[in-house]
Amino acid sequence: MDLSVTRADEHTTNVTLRVEGREVSRLILHRREMRIGCARVTMGGIGGVFTEPEHRHRGYMRRVMERAVQHMAEQQYDFSLLFGIRDFYPRWGFRTTMGFHQVSIPLEKARPVSSSLRTRPFEPTDMPAVLEIYAENNALRTGSIVRPPFPPDRFPMGSEFFVRPELFVVLDHAGEIIAYAGVDRDKENRDTGERTPITGRLHAAEAGARVPAAWPAIIARLAARAEELQAPSLEIFVPPDHELTHYARLLGCTVRSSYPDDGGAMGRIIDLTSLLPKIEPELRRRFRLSGAQFSGSCRVITDLGVFAIVARNGELHLEDDVGDPAAELELPQWALMQLLLGHRPLPLVLLEAETKARGDLTPLGAALFPPQYAHCWRTDWF
Ligand SMILES: CC(C)(COP(=O)(O)OP(=O)(O)OC[C@H]1O[C@@H](n2cnc3c(N)ncnc32)[C@H](O)[C@@H]1OP(=O)(O)O)[C@@H](O)C(=O)NCCC(=O)NCCS
Repeated sequence: MDLSVTRADEHTTNVTLRVEGREVSRLILHRREMRIGCARVTMGGIGGVFTEPEHRHRGYMRRVMERAVQHMAEQQYDFSLLFGIRDFYPRWGFRTTMGFHQVSIPLEKARPVSSSLRTRPFEPTDMPAVLEIYAENNALRTGSIVRPPFPPDRFPMGSEFFVRPELFVVLDHAGEIIAYAGVDRDKENRDTGERTPITGRLHAAEAGARVPAAWPAIIARLAARAEELQAPSLEIFVPPDHELTHYARLLGCTVRSSYPDDGGAMGRIIDLTSLLPKIEPELRRRFRLSGAQFSGSCRVITDLGVFAIVARNGELHLEDDVGDPAAELELPQWALMQLLLGHRPLPLVLLEAETKARGDLTPLGAALFPPQYAHCWRTDWF
């Protein structure tokens, strides 16, 4: 049996287990920068988790996953994320940490929308402008990926794996690109490579705009496309606090977020020591924004290490540790991750049997760990 870690390119590493020379179990590790508010952390995205059917239940994937986590720790990844099945990944420290978000606009509500702005199909030379809009729109979006890595001329996927999107852009009256969106176009058959056009549904994995006036143009174009595809509604994968969702409220829409108790978007902290300096500016920002008057210190004890949060004169910073802290919080790494990503607020994390608290953590918890709609755009899934 041979377990190997092979770097395919700057952003991709294969972890592979071979038995008698034959590859039987594997995963792909994608190196990405992910935002937690204004912080950018190095994230290992795990995908392609697979054991050949005749070799399952022999502990092969256990070895591959353990090696992947060990490799990420050696390489000082801060965090790891995957899109997972139930009852499987918690054994390697992963827990659900983000929801899946979607807004649905019935076609009859979208049909009357019109705009004087022009739209046209995306051209590869539009990519820098589109990526700039994406970066502006997601500058503080927890869970969003810092792009590139990305193909230079196309979006890598639509709302699902093996689905190719078609993009369009919205132009202002001077001809500048001010918005974009991507709609699922066709699906590739994994075995034959054959592509089948998607009909009967309109799925838009992504949309972005520089100015609010672009949203009617996007909706009008999506409605026209839905008409062609004979789709009853526009299904757009944006989070509930996105400006497009707010615009959709005026038209009439349903907003859905699903949070599996296990599975879905799951994460874990890999290296706390490398994560803390990266996350510190974001914690400072949250503290300032909250206007909290809390002064004092809190020692945080996790299975990956200890650190201290110190607040003084309206400013906050992190330290390796402090003597005699006013409060103490003991929790597993995954619970700290859920706090940082706004998956659950502190009072609810403290309901977990694995957590312990001493002292008054209420004001600090409310300031630093507000609930959020973390969102990883489907275009970036792995
Ligand atoms: C899921 C999969 C990768 C497991 O591979 P495997 O080599 O059989 O896994 P292992 O034998 O190493 O099992 C490790 C542990 O997970 C458990 N397990 C195995 N398959 C499982 C499954 N489908 N669901 C839940 N638990 C599973 C095993 O019982 C074992 O438990 P243990 O902690 O008591 O030892 C494999 O079934 C597969 O390729 N499935 C199809 C693709 C897939 O679903 N991939 C995951 C996408 S997110």
